[in-house]
Amino acid sequence: MTDKIERLLAEVEAFAPRTAAEIEEFRVRLLGRKGELNALMDEFKSVAPEMKRELGQKLNHLKNRAMERVNELKSDLEAHAAEPAGSLGDLTRPGTAQPLGSRHPLSLVRNEICGIFERLGYVVAEGPEIEDDWHVFSALNFPPEHPARDMQDTFFIEKDPDILLRTHTSSIQVRVMQSQKPPIRVICPGRVFRNEAISYRAHCIFHQIEGLYIDENVSFADMKQSLLYFVREFFGEQTRIRLRPSYFPFTEPSAEMDISCNLCGGKGCNVCKHTGWLEIMGCGMVDPNVLEACGIDSKKYSGFAFGMGVERSAMLKYGVKDLRLYFENDVRFLHQFDTAL
Ligand code: DAH
Repeated sequence: MTDKIERLLAEVEAFAPRTAAEIEEFRVRLLGRKGELNALMDEFKSVAPEMKRELGQKLNHLKNRAMERVNELKSDLEAHAAEPAGSLGDLTRPGTAQPLGSRHPLSLVRNEICGIFERLGYVVAEGPEIEDDWHVFSALNFPPEHPARDMQDTFFIEKDPDILLRTHTSSIQVRVMQSQKPPIRVICPGRVFRNEAISYRAHCIFHQIEGLYIDENVSFADMKQSLLYFVREFFGEQTRIRLRPSYFPFTEPSAEMDISCNLCGGKGCNVCKHTGWLEIMGCGMVDPNVLEACGIDSKKYSGFAFGMGVERSAMLKYGVKDLRLYFENDVRFLHQFDTAL
């Protein structure tokens, strides 16, 4: 009888079922009413009294182990129910892709615009977002009473009227002219700040790209040709431009540049308000006062400058109707630009 108990105990320890049905079958065979354990109990009744103590303990141990083992195996199987057998699971199941980030559409457009001008020999220049009055206004020939200097448009820092958040990237022009000698060809991307109500077409934080070209004998015709090249590269070969007279304190003469509407091809639609034209940037010949303020001889050198909004250019290029989308970081919007990497 001892042999039989030991054999069954070894069997209990070695039992490695694969299914719940195998466990149940095992339980019935050992612990069931007509099972091996009950058969042993019957046999136990006729065991000599002096053997009863030892065999009784062995039998109890076998019974307890068998019950423990059945419960253990059942809960193991349930825990791994979702996972196929084997420590690595099902090796044929499809892998989980690592989600990849992508560039923000404004970065894509900024890089593309800078890239086009870099191919024309411009280099990228940057400047601080927190500026002083001189770099943002005075050096750029803004008269003291100009409305842009007003609290309504400009964010001042700590009530100090001299320190402010730049309202345009033209302040970078000033820094470049102060620190470099002509010939100068720079393209200056950056974030700018204006105290404006947020709407589908305006934000208090947005991005601009400024360009500046200074050398001897630079003409308005040079500017027009450079900007036409840019527009054709960025919006497509068929795009036309027109220059309208305008006013900026830092350029003379100044112009506003329009491109033919790339949605209706110039026929007139909602986006171009039925004019066939879209305004995309301000430009002009650098005012001699600005050259002089920055230490450049205006008798010897001339140049042109231009400035455009990155959000606006991106909206026109991708047909985005609401500027706020660029700042909300909704991945459903951002993922549409994944392929533009
Ligand atoms: N700074 C102007 C603005 O914020 C844009 C601009 C216009 C820049 C004409 C220029 C320029 O360099 O020549 O509206």
